[in-house]
Amino acid sequence: MKHTSEEVYNRLNDQIHQELAAWYGYLGMSIWCSKNYFAGFAKWLNSQSQEEYMHAVKIQQFLIDRGVQITLQPISEPRQEYSSITEIFEAALAQEQSNSKSLNSIFQLAFESQAYASVTELQWFITEQVEEERTAQTNLAHIKMVASDPAAVLELDKSFGARESIFPIPPA
Ligand SMILES: [Fe+2]
Ligand SMILES: [Fe+2]
Repeated sequence: MKHTSEEVYNRLNDQIHQELAAWYGYLGMSIWCSKNYFAGFAKWLNSQSQEEYMHAVKIQQFLIDRGVQITLQPISEPRQEYSSITEIFEAALAQEQSNSKSLNSIFQLAFESQAYASVTELQWFITEQVEEERTAQTNLAHIKMVASDPAAVLELDKSFGARESIFPIPPA
């Protein structure tokens, strides 16, 4: 079956939505952490949500450079209820895995379509996802190690709070 660059651009347009859904998802997690007195995890997740926003902007810029008409889609309400910090980082990992899956499938389409500019653009994202998944796996593993020890959880919260963000976050 012959694909076209057009289809690849449509999928990249959808990927803007996927990245913004991730932005919103992390924001929901960050807010839950703030509400539950985990200022460090909240800050880390807010920084992570900013990264997702930057990913959306990166794809948007690529499509503009290619002269593609972008259609922004509605973003549905993210999950906001969690029962523990472990659940938060399970959801973060699942979100990254689902994002990787989506990027891989667009990469395959771009490759089959011989849409080389999109292949190159997507390569950056595929590389980024390796790091994102590793970070999400590590975070979840660390949370699980300390989950039954509140003092250790608070220590971990503090170390997460040291992350630098792209845009300034108002102090807690
Ligand atoms: Fe992303
Ligand atoms: Fe991500």
